[in-house]
Amino acid sequence: MTEFPTPKTAFSRQNPFPARLRENRRLNRQGSKKDTRHIVIELGSAGPTYTCGDSLGVFPRNPDSLVCEFIETLGLQNDAALHEAIATSGVLNRVRKKFVRAVAEKALGQSKQRFQEIIADDKKFDHYIFDRDVIDVLRDAPGVHFEPTDIPGLLNTIAPRLYSIASSPDHRPGEAHLTVALVQYASHGRQKQGLASGYLAHLADESTVAVYVQPTRHFHLPPADRDMIMVGPGTGVAPFRGFLQHRAVHGHSGRNWLFFGDQHANTDFLYEEEFLAARKSRLLHKLSTAFSRDQAEKLYVQHRMEEEGAELWRWLEEGAFFYVCGDAKRMAKDVHASLVTIVAKHGGKTLDQADEWVSETLIKNEKRYLRDVY
Ligand SMILES: Cc1cc2nc3c(=O)[nH]c(=O)nc-3n(C[C@H](O)[C@H](O)[C@H](O)COP(=O)(O)OP(=O)(O)OC[C@H]3O[C@@H](n4cnc5c(N)ncnc54)[C@H](O)[C@@H]3O)c2cc1C
Ligand SMILES: NC(=O)c1ccc[n+]([C@@H]2O[C@H](COP(=O)([O-])OP(=O)(O)OC[C@H]3O[C@@H](n4cnc5c(N)ncnc54)[C@H](OP(=O)(O)O)[C@@H]3O)[C@@H](O)[C@H]2O)c1
Repeated sequence: MTEFPTPKTAFSRQNPFPARLRENRRLNRQGSKKDTRHIVIELGSAGPTYTCGDSLGVFPRNPDSLVCEFIETLGLQNDAALHEAIATSGVLNRVRKKFVRAVAEKALGQSKQRFQEIIADDKKFDHYIFDRDVIDVLRDAPGVHFEPTDIPGLLNTIAPRLYSIASSPDHRPGEAHLTVALVQYASHGRQKQGLASGYLAHLADESTVAVYVQPTRHFHLPPADRDMIMVGPGTGVAPFRGFLQHRAVHGHSGRNWLFFGDQHANTDFLYEEEFLAARKSRLLHKLSTAFSRDQAEKLYVQHRMEEEGAELWRWLEEGAFFYVCGDAKRMAKDVHASLVTIVAKHGGKTLDQADEWVSETLIKNEKRYLRDVY
């Protein structure tokens, strides 16, 4: 395994770097249901340094429109200091139980009674807070008022979010690229957005954004002459863009195989031109895509892996590293199961033997099955 020294930097989660936003563009084409952003953050020569596989921590702010609505709903004076304090301190798009309890205490009549019923039942309470923001809760108790000094203790403190870095520092020195999926949904008659993905998606060029590098412990490139298989549907493709840039700059001889998937080929093939060019120049030896909603049946990256199982097994036998990045809840588990099936079928093993080979040989002993899932 190539050793990468962890870069020394004065910047950290406790002391983030005030970086500049250089670029913010939508990667999905018109007509897509998704909004995935290519974000370029300028770290310059004074900012933190990173290696491929690291993540960038981003400190978000609440959107100004939501801050104003919150202040107005509480009947407070919207002065600049209060606005700034609320924008940067407490989470507004989700609520904690303490906030609901405090609102319930001040609620009157029927709404108080309704709150008491919800709070008394754990299941109802969990369900109530699942998809409500502060405005939804305040609308259930019209006229409730808090003093500005009450507010911080009632909200969750804003925490930074991590994003896989989608560039190589040797390709575009002083820049960190991100691939950010905007979390958006409607609930209780209002449109909602994720705190950090919404913040980044709406950030204007030249804005200042507080960031730090979260070094990876394990998600490093393989040695220069080793092959790598990368499975990265959706935003999971981010670190692999950086890996490929790094291998191109340094002329690594190992072969590269990317599995990418998203909803529709026409609108959601993230970095399509770059990956097609990499395929053409043979930086990418294989590119296998799975567009899940272009046909009646769902087609996922693991289905492509199984179709190409014989060749995938040959690469593994020849020492390839296997990387997975993206959704932890379903995708990474299903990809793992498909990998075991492929090893059994093409490696002449029972499912139990294949499972053990993947866990013991690939993951534990040879450390060439690496995951960065969230
Ligand atoms: C190591 C690491 C790397 C990562 N890399 C990336 C990356 O490269 N790109 C990327 O986009 N993300 C990445 N993430 C995820 C990222 O950190 C954030 O978690 C993500 O952007 C969501 O954060 P947010 O602040 O926008 O959303 P939040 O404000 O935290 O909101 C998300 C919440 O919204 C809720 N929610 C979502 N949909 C609904 C719905 N329909 N109804 C009700 N509630 C709903 C969910 O419960 C969820 O908890 C990574 C995470 C980790 C840990
Ligand atoms: N709540 C969740 O369970 C969940 C899961 C994943 C992502 N997310 C969030 O959704 C946002 C967007 O994520 P993203 O753009 O990175 O893409 P994504 O939602 O992970 O989707 C990328 C591709 O993976 C497919 N996919 C869905 N389930 C899969 C599975 N079990 N195995 C393999 N592929 C699968 C999707 O297909 P289809 O969409 O057509 O099924 C899509 O084609 C992120 O903010 C992420 O945090 C939430």
